[in-house]
Amino acid sequence: MDSLTLFSLYFLLPLILILLFFLRSTHRSRRLPPGSLGLPFVGETLQLISAYKSENPEPFIDERVGRFGPIFTTHVFGEPTVFSADPDTNRFILQNEGRLFESSYPGSISNLLGRHSLLLMRGSLHKRMHSLTLSFANSSILQDHLLLDIDRLVRLNLDCWTGLVFLMDEAKKITFELTVKQLMSFDPCEWTESLRKEYMLVIEGFFTIPFRLFSTTYRRAIEARRKVAEALGRVVRERRRRRSRGGGGGGGGEGGDQRKNDMLGALLDEEGGGAGGFSDEEIVDFMLALLVAGYETTSTIMTLAVKFLTETPLALAQLKEEQDEIRARKGESEALEWNDYKSMPFTQCVVNETLRVANIISGVFRRAMTDIDVKGYRIPKGYKVFASLRAVHMDEDHFKDARSFNPWRWQGGDSSAATNSVNLFTPFGGGPRRCPGAELARAELSVFLHHLVTRFSWVAAEDDKLVFFPTTRTQKRFPIIVQRRNHGAAPPPAPTFPL
Ligand code: HEM
Repeated sequence: MDSLTLFSLYFLLPLILILLFFLRSTHRSRRLPPGSLGLPFVGETLQLISAYKSENPEPFIDERVGRFGPIFTTHVFGEPTVFSADPDTNRFILQNEGRLFESSYPGSISNLLGRHSLLLMRGSLHKRMHSLTLSFANSSILQDHLLLDIDRLVRLNLDCWTGLVFLMDEAKKITFELTVKQLMSFDPCEWTESLRKEYMLVIEGFFTIPFRLFSTTYRRAIEARRKVAEALGRVVRERRRRRSRGGGGGGGGEGGDQRKNDMLGALLDEEGGGAGGFSDEEIVDFMLALLVAGYETTSTIMTLAVKFLTETPLALAQLKEEQDEIRARKGESEALEWNDYKSMPFTQCVVNETLRVANIISGVFRRAMTDIDVKGYRIPKGYKVFASLRAVHMDEDHFKDARSFNPWRWQGGDSSAATNSVNLFTPFGGGPRRCPGAELARAELSVFLHHLVTRFSWVAAEDDKLVFFPTTRTQKRFPIIVQRRNHGAAPPPAPTFPL
């Protein structure tokens, strides 16, 4: 045996064993949830990304839950993270927002949203602004005027559809126009369309490395954010100027009657965080983030609902029947009203099931504000926590045959998902940060489905796959070939896909 081998055997090996023992016992004494931290620096990020870039990301969670249980420790996006696939723990995390946990988003998202966005606000200001946002998207506002706006804008957009339609792009146009209308009363015009194009660049930067030097996408996103903020800033200043002259608002494409009802008006009326009202920068950040939150999510859910329905002809036929009955009661061009919206039981099953299977927001990131004991483990202060909403929605123990699209599971009866899933179905999160746009998103999707199925039949133009990273989307923007329904006519012939 040479001297190097002897040295390794008698000196290095015991040292490594002691170190490993020490590391394990620290791990145990802190009672961190079990898990694997993967490789140095990158941890298990690459495994997570490659799973979420596929059509079937479930194995990433399944494998770890199988080995360690529903609460495990991993290392993703640069830091150790406690991952929860357990509904009680998720509820505990969401309900204790601001007391034991605080929201914590990756640097790229925080930089691009701006520090005054609702997602990043904390404490009493967050509470006040959350309820202000809710007051612009709740059921009474929907009844009052929002449903009519949705109906009008959906119809306006669908009027132009012929032949090949990239559904994801079209859905984005609709939800963007709606959110701009809701925020500052602008009707669709060239200005809103160029604003939307800049927005798309901002969103692309969300899941990149937040360093200008390393990422062209991030650089482009920062530049686009500057342009969007400038454009919104001009609108805010103009509105202030008009208000100070006693004119209220208006200008450009703004609908004079509604500007008193819009979000910008409410923000200008509010007392700000400090003395006096909000600054222009605060208002711009707030609106910019709201546009992101309302636009990307809802357009994706619209696209995926159509994809799932296309793949489930029985569900599509039942939904069509329900919507045709409503249309027959109303005549060709009458707008949908609140009562119509409330008489779409099967459509609401489709909405629930789409939200459950699509998992647009797969989970929420938080940070532990103190050492926290949960289910026999200790999460140390400062630790990142991820409450996986997706893991619960996809768990066979909670939803029978969880990985298939089955809207009928939401139909009445004691065994229905609706009865059994009070704490299990959380597509909009929960607690003080529960999505204030939940009711609005559901209404947008329902109205969209109504007009789509009553006016068109369609077939998928190409085979298109779902992916979940960096955001949930279909790879090819879900192209479909549409044909106006002239009742009784056959649907367009299905194209043949190259294998
Ligand atoms: C299908 C559509 C949507 C889904 C699945 C969704 C999901 C969510 C989820 C899970 C959260 C919680 C985030 C957290 O706890 O950290 C959230 C927050 C939020 N959502 Fe939505 N959302 C949707 C549509 C909308 C719409 C249409 C709006 C527009 C008003 C909106 C505005 C917001 C805002 C402002 C927050 C931040 C709330 C806060 O931090 O207090 N969302 N959303």
